[in-house]
This record gives sequence, C-alpha cells and structure tokens, in this order.
Amino acid sequence: MSPDVIDAPLELASWLARIEPDHVEGFALRMREGTLHLLAGEPELGALAIDFTRGASGFRGPRARSERLVRACGVRDGSRVVDATGGLGTDAWLLASAGAEVELIEQHPVVAALLADGLLRARVQHPDIAARIHLQGADSRAVLAPQMAAVTAVYIDPMYPPRRKSALGDRRLRLLAALCAMSGQPGDDVAGLLAAALTARTKRVVLKRPLREALPNGVPDPSYSLSGRSTRFDVWRRTGP
Ligand SMILES: C[S@@+](CC[C@H](N)C(=O)[O-])C[C@H]1O[C@@H](n2cnc3c(N)ncnc32)[C@H](O)[C@@H]1O
Repeated sequence: MSPDVIDAPLELASWLARIEPDHVEGFALRMREGTLHLLAGEPELGALAIDFTRGASGFRGPRARSERLVRACGVRDGSRVVDATGGLGTDAWLLASAGAEVELIEQHPVVAALLADGLLRARVQHPDIAARIHLQGADSRAVLAPQMAAVTAVYIDPMYPPRRKSALGDRRLRLLAALCAMSGQPGDDVAGLLAAALTARTKRVVLKRPLREALPNGVPDPSYSLSGRSTRFDVWRRTGP
C-alpha cells in the first residue's frame, strides 16, 4: 500500500490493495481529514473524493422517485438494480435513495476504492441508504449473467470518449475520464456493456447516452426513451419469461 494512504481505515485496505502503480501513474492518492482523495497531475483538474452526503447526492424519498433515471429503471421499494458502470456513484445513490437495492460494479481499482471510502463515510449519516449499496470491483461484461433475471434493471452509463465536448462540463467526470484514459480506457465499450446487459435477461436494461448520439450498429431498438435537454435514457423492456 502506498505510504500516502497509510492512515486509511482498515475497511479500505482490501480496496487499496488492488491498486497497482500503473493505475495511478500521473495521479496521487492521499488521505486528507479522513477522506480518500485522488489528486490529478494537471492542476486544473484538482482533486476528487466521493461524498454522498453533499449536493445532488443529498436528496431522497419522493423527490428521488420523480427523477428520470429512477423512472427509467422502474424502481419501487425492494427493487434490485445493477449499476454496471459505477463511476462517482451519484446515480447509484439516487437509485438507493428511491428505495432500490443496488449492486454497484466498477472496474477501475482506484475508482472502486474512492467509492468504498465514500460509502464508509455515508454509513454514518445515511446508514439506511448506504446499506442498500453493494460495491463490487469487476468488469461488468464478465459478471452480468443470465441468472440475473430476478433483477429489476441493469443500468449502464458509459463514459463519453474524452474528445466529446459534452464530457467537458463536469470537472469531476473529466478527472475520472483522464484517470481511465491513462489506464488505457479512452472510452467505455458501449456495445459490449449493452450486449452483456441484454444477455442478463432482466426486466429492463437502461442506457444513458448524449441526446443525439446513435446507438452502436447491430443493437436492437429500445422499447422507448426518456429524453431530457442533453441526455436520454434508452429502455429495453423484456416481457416474456
Ligand atoms: C461515466 S462513469 C459513470 C458515472 C456514474 N453513473 C455516476 O453516477 O457517477 C463510467 C464508469 O464506468 C466504469 N466502467 C466502464 N466500463 C466498465 C465495465 N465494463 N465494468 C465496470 N465498470 C465499468 C468506468 O471505469 C467509469 O468509472
């Protein structure tokens, strides 16, 4: 474990142990005031920590249920959702705030450690919501499987390729994109994730994309889409057994 994170709580040790030097090349990980931070080499990208108790992550209950993502996933109390592209965990927190049990899958070991740290701290203020989020460090394409039929929805929010203007807005997402690009993932595998999600034969698959972006070739048309000003949620519903 890097000496910079030696003060990390014990519960984080197994997540930090998965990080290899090339996962953080050009970046640094530090514990500051009890919070794990990722620091970018480029000063304008700044630092990244995951705090579920602030800003947009802070709302819950009825307000969460009216959100497009929650409606797209068909969440009710007790629903089970697989969030196959964990990222900053904002969407997972929203889904859990609306009452879903969320399997949160993130492939990048540094991002998974930041999520684990955020969830540990969120347990203190919002134990009920945090307890509904189950973090897994894995490649979703390998773990989404047909036996997931009992799950209400698989949700996918792949990273936009770094050149996209729409990816430039949120500094935290830019930092995440820079980290993933440095580890050899210039953009996420939309077609592969979608194929794996559709194989899982869940009641719904939900894909978030920029409003005007076409689906990859060969993908079946979604059952419907919920569109906003800049993004849309494409929803595939399975009716049969
Ligand atoms: C745009 S971010 C997701 C943002 C997230 N919805 C949120 O609310 O913060 C995409 C994330 O998916 C992860 N990812 C991409 N492909 C993946 C895969 N095959 N399995 C697991 N995670 C993946 C990336 O490492 C990145 O952290």
